[in-house]
Amino acid sequence: MTATTTSLAPDTDVAPNLELGAARRVDFPTLSREVHGKRLVYLDTGASSQTPQVVLDTMNDYYSRFRSNVHRGVYQLAEEATDLYEGGRTTVAEFIDAPADGIVFTKNSTEAMNLAAWSWVRTQLGPDDAMLTTRMEHHANFVPYLHAQQDIGFDLRTIPILPDGQLDLDAAKDLLADGKVTYLAVIHVSNVLGTINDVATLTEMARAANPDCKVLLDGSQAVPQMPVSVRDLDADFYAFTGHKACGPTGIGVLAAKPELLERMPPFLSGGDMILDVTLDGFTTNTVPHKFEAGTPMIAEAGGLGTALDYLADLGMDRVRVHERDLVGSLIEALQSVDDVTIHGPLDPDIRGGAVSFDLAGVHPHDVGAMLDSFGVCIRVGHHCAKPLMRELGVNATARASLGLYNDLDDLEPLVAGLREAARFFAR
Ligand code: ALA
Repeated sequence: MTATTTSLAPDTDVAPNLELGAARRVDFPTLSREVHGKRLVYLDTGASSQTPQVVLDTMNDYYSRFRSNVHRGVYQLAEEATDLYEGGRTTVAEFIDAPADGIVFTKNSTEAMNLAAWSWVRTQLGPDDAMLTTRMEHHANFVPYLHAQQDIGFDLRTIPILPDGQLDLDAAKDLLADGKVTYLAVIHVSNVLGTINDVATLTEMARAANPDCKVLLDGSQAVPQMPVSVRDLDADFYAFTGHKACGPTGIGVLAAKPELLERMPPFLSGGDMILDVTLDGFTTNTVPHKFEAGTPMIAEAGGLGTALDYLADLGMDRVRVHERDLVGSLIEALQSVDDVTIHGPLDPDIRGGAVSFDLAGVHPHDVGAMLDSFGVCIRVGHHCAKPLMRELGVNATARASLGLYNDLDDLEPLVAGLREAARFFAR
């Protein structure tokens, strides 16, 4: 099997439209400010998106009109707070096409992956098992398994990356061949290379090799930029975070098959996750509440619900078309600068909106600092993916990443800043 260049993104047979990009900047208060006297150009949505006013309104409404706890009170305010929180769960379930009783709120996707690692991997895998992941994982979908492996001793295997930034599916087939892989963990869209991974094929391959293999997909970069159906992907676990999807910080999601949640022990214990407590023990609440100990992120769950409603109103297929077209222009813009090397696929059909690159002879931190003086925000560093940096043979890269509010206008200051960085630093 060789890597394919067929589009891996869901069908996006809609025309590009003018309702996104510059037209949507007005929805995001931060984007109206200037930085160093320059128009703000925000190209770091891969790290954290901006927040639309409607999300701030939802959270402010909670704090100013009905702040109270959930699942506990019998008074009006507490019922409104509970409706906000549980309404957020229903919206998440609809947005990613997954059952609501499998939606566990966590504080971010890192905590979601830790929940799967602590409550599934550590309880279900033994020293004779293997798990398979990739060499392009974010630390959040790698370190929890390294940690578990140290304690349990299962075989941790990694799928290599082809020179074009796609996963080597031939190698994956070999790594699965002995049928020992009982857990597969894969990033859906790479935060560094931008690659949209063929997670459906990998899932099929893993289950063909071992029908009991469970699959976790890290959708942190996928959910904000393309339509996602957890049901169609048939993922056992699907994780994402609110703050990259126009939602607040401090809220993430583990969408799990409810029957698996039933089999998993709680990760955190305390109030709200119990049905009964005696001096000798406790019984756990129904799923998903069994995994939500203590007072949860109420304003944040409501804010996430509003963010996903906002994205749904725009239409995720339109968001995907916008990002696909704009990332093509971003790649062309970067290629117009001498001595820029891009990591990852160049074909917009198989990549998302995060583009990592090097400017020869200039340290990525110098690139970032120069761009900041042009009002341009990018991320520099190892992008929480040190094993991938080693695969690429670099310590760090610069990365520009797109959101629905970016437009062609944002590319001109990027190019100007890169040319100035080359002139200033690489003399
Ligand atoms: N995972 C985030 C990024 O890639 C923080 O920047």
